[in-house]
Amino acid sequence: MEISNLKIGLAVTGSFCTLSTILDYIRELSQNAADVVPIFAESVANMDTRFSPADEITQLIEKITGNTGIKNIQQAERIGPDKMFDILAVIPCTGNTLAKIALGITDTVVTMAVKSHLRNSRPVVIGASSNDLLGANAKNLGTLLNFKNIYFVPLFQDDALNKEKSLSFKPELICKTISKAADGKQLQPLLAR
Ligand SMILES: Cc1cc2nc3c(=O)[nH]c(=O)nc-3n(C[C@H](O)[C@H](O)[C@H](O)COP(=O)(O)O)c2cc1C
Repeated sequence: MEISNLKIGLAVTGSFCTLSTILDYIRELSQNAADVVPIFAESVANMDTRFSPADEITQLIEKITGNTGIKNIQQAERIGPDKMFDILAVIPCTGNTLAKIALGITDTVVTMAVKSHLRNSRPVVIGASSNDLLGANAKNLGTLLNFKNIYFVPLFQDDALNKEKSLSFKPELICKTISKAADGKQLQPLLAR
């Protein structure tokens, strides 16, 4: 499906180094989709990091998307009942949030957003980026690969020699993955180069 028809929730979690490199891709998504509404993890909304103060990055993403972000669990809970989005994209998705989704834990803004959206059997797209996806989090990745309505932006080993358990997604494939997921299909190959 053309992404120009899609209203997208973009849940942003605390993979800060990735986040700082994908702003142009968030812009591309916002320019092409019908609407993109940011949803901020508590980490992104509150943590000043070496990459950016929290206020700066959240305001920049709000400016790029043209929408005020969802920042609390009460707002995120409305996503399902109000059928707010055609697709929910969790990009970037930390190992922490990925593990919680796999285990059905709903104690954060983003995990609440995912649970609420999934109740309508609508697609969730995950752009995972974590140093432990081939280690401690491999079992959670495996669990989610087997979940209905969950799709992944293709993954690659971002630094196989120095971070041998690390995987990250290909940001240039975000739009294509979302487009396929809207048709109920996983963009292939799942393991990118
Ligand atoms: C500078 C910085 C960079 C980080 N990068 C990542 C990352 O790429 N992937 C990841 O899984 N966690 C990363 N973390 C850790 C998460 O931010 C941390 O686990 C946080 O509790 C995740 O919460 P969230 O999943 O709600 O965003 C990073 C933390 C900091 C301070």
